[in-house]
Amino acid sequence: MKVTIIGTGYVGLVTGTCFAEVGHQVICVDCAADKIKLLQAGGIPIYEPGLEELVKKNTAAGRLRFTTSTKEGVEKSDVVFIAVPTPPLPDGSVDLSFIEGVAREIAASLTRYKIVVDKSTVPVKTGEKVAETIKRYSKSRVEFDVVSNPEFLREGFAVEDFLHPDRVVIGSRSQRPVQAMKELYAPFHAPIIVTDINSAELIKHAANCFLSLKISYINALSVICEAAGANIQEVANGIGMDARIGRQFLDASLGFGGSCFPKDLSAFIKISEQLGYDFALLKDVQQINAQQMDRFVKKINETLWVLKDKKIGVLGLAFKQNTDDVRMSPAIDLCQRLKKEGAHLRVHDPKAMEKAKAVLKDVTFVADMNEVADGCDALIIATEWPEFKKLDIEKARKVMTHPIMFDGRNLFDVAEMEQMGFIYKSIGR
Ligand code: UGA
Repeated sequence: MKVTIIGTGYVGLVTGTCFAEVGHQVICVDCAADKIKLLQAGGIPIYEPGLEELVKKNTAAGRLRFTTSTKEGVEKSDVVFIAVPTPPLPDGSVDLSFIEGVAREIAASLTRYKIVVDKSTVPVKTGEKVAETIKRYSKSRVEFDVVSNPEFLREGFAVEDFLHPDRVVIGSRSQRPVQAMKELYAPFHAPIIVTDINSAELIKHAANCFLSLKISYINALSVICEAAGANIQEVANGIGMDARIGRQFLDASLGFGGSCFPKDLSAFIKISEQLGYDFALLKDVQQINAQQMDRFVKKINETLWVLKDKKIGVLGLAFKQNTDDVRMSPAIDLCQRLKKEGAHLRVHDPKAMEKAKAVLKDVTFVADMNEVADGCDALIIATEWPEFKKLDIEKARKVMTHPIMFDGRNLFDVAEMEQMGFIYKSIGR
């Protein structure tokens, strides 16, 4: 099928590339000319495991093209995806100006029937507005359908998630676009759920809020575990084996971050408010998340006492493993707090150093994770990169002024670390 994706961020680029991978003809559109130039030249603007290879392979096969022209993208395709950012506004609601702008551009380029698919995360009822806007700004009076098709990709696993989805949600007002959407997704052999547009839009926010609720639940339990002398990992394993609960997303941490959960929580609280419901439960999720970071910083303060002029090593800058994304990263937030108190930081991340340099000033970026601890008063694990488990702990112990580790991701075993002479503080253990 002929598909155009407008917006080549994490979602758009992965979506377009994976559709090309299963044989569709894909045009990716972005207004950022430098990004399109880079992609046309075989470069890639983000780190996402497996993506670069697939972009190269499908570009070479002639199934994937990049352009800055929305008009070209719309004219040459039957299905047009909107995958532009929906950033938060200061009051927590969603900035829909990019969506509206693209809807108008699509309207201006309509010459025959199209399926316009919203993939961006949007408030419920946005599909109705998109349809209204296209109708209003389209001079040709050509027929079109608007479909909601939310994405459930995790950064760092996005290609894998797209190629092997748990489910595909198709929200549509009429039957007309449903068959084409089913064909588009047929190569992925995933269960397909067809709903109305409002339900599809709600499914996305409801899913992300539930997942963040799960993390806040385990983080709240981690506080109880610390107070009671229990172990949060054992509790998580114990409750996670109940199939109704599940073990995933029960890893206690210094809090969740990224460009999705914090934004979607605020947005959904706001949407609920506008619909007449005070979603207090989700406000608690936000509060627990913020407190988790506060508690972690308190642990550091209590152990190191004065932070001014202390040398602290930080492993991890990305908001999670397998990504170079530092947006709303708890690790960056932590670094800023420690810096504010006068600590000198030596930091490392396997992939996010370049992006971190733009937001984190006056810190020492260390290329080798095993050199971060040199001369440090404490070492912090801030991101759950699996390679940190292979850290040379013995070397770190020798080169630190005193072996102290704060593990915000519970990567190491408490007894082993203590046996090695570390003052070791983690989460809920
Ligand atoms: C999230 C959802 O998982 C995706 O399904 C969704 O499509 C995406 O948002 C989106 O809306 O675009 P993502 O933000 O990429 O994906 O990353 P997650 O793997 O969900 O992690 C989010 C945060 O929660 C990270 O900071 C991570 O470290 C933290 N986390 C995750 C925990 O603290 N504990 C856990 O057990 C799991």
